[in-house]
Amino acid sequence: MTAQLIDGNALAKTIRAEVAGRTAALKARSIQPALSIILVGEDPASQVYTKHKVNDSTETGLQATLERYPADMSEADLLARIHALNDDPAVHGILVQLPLPKHMDSQKVIETISPAKDVDGFHIHSAGALMTGAPGFWPCTPYGCMKMLESIGCKLRGKHAVVIGRSNIVGKPMAMMLLAQSATVTICHSATGDLKAMTLQADVIVAAVGKRNVLTADMVKPGAVVIDVGMNRNDEGKLCGDVDFEGVREVAGWITPVPGGVGPMTRAMLLVNTLEAAERATA
Ligand code: GUN
Repeated sequence: MTAQLIDGNALAKTIRAEVAGRTAALKARSIQPALSIILVGEDPASQVYTKHKVNDSTETGLQATLERYPADMSEADLLARIHALNDDPAVHGILVQLPLPKHMDSQKVIETISPAKDVDGFHIHSAGALMTGAPGFWPCTPYGCMKMLESIGCKLRGKHAVVIGRSNIVGKPMAMMLLAQSATVTICHSATGDLKAMTLQADVIVAAVGKRNVLTADMVKPGAVVIDVGMNRNDEGKLCGDVDFEGVREVAGWITPVPGGVGPMTRAMLLVNTLEAAERATA
């Protein structure tokens, strides 16, 4: 059996169309949803990512402003700028692109963003809201993974979901989202003794480690759903995920490709969160 593909590009396109529709409804009420993106320094990857975020926003009718600051900006100046954006009612979402220069405390910077504008979902308030089921913003990558599972009609109640990776941005929030849907969740990580014994039991596997071939065909139960969050380069320099795609697709029931899987969904969910922030602020 060859797995069916979960097409992140197609699903992201549908979500962007929904965002565009809801944005138009806000504009009809003279509300312009607005996202402020802060980029400190010259990190090449961050420059590309922030450009994508601005373009995605503009294409769906959201207003996105990219503020660029030099790498030697003081932390105090950055915090002051975030406070000003917190206080500006015309700004609904604030995103500080990571990584920040080494002299800044990233966690302190993130905690300075108003939870009501935390469209990345990285604030400790957002993490707590996710854990308790309170309203907040969900981090874009695991949120996008949940949308992918929903899109294939995957009923999570009573299923065994194995999350490989325990980062604050993907692994931990992913586990909480799956748990909220009544899955039985196992979180595996670098100290897990027998990863294969865990993944072989899984109905759903989310690989979010940042290392190639973490999941191979012999580790997957036939018919399982496999979500690949990884973004790595293979020996030929080609983009690849954490999953041995060619092998695992022969065993899994569903699988996300890399590229064209989780990546576009992460981008789409930032738009959803920004629109949601605008809707909540103006309800
Ligand atoms: N750097 C890499 N990915 C992200 C992201 O999703 N949000 C922010 N703020 N920085 C990042």
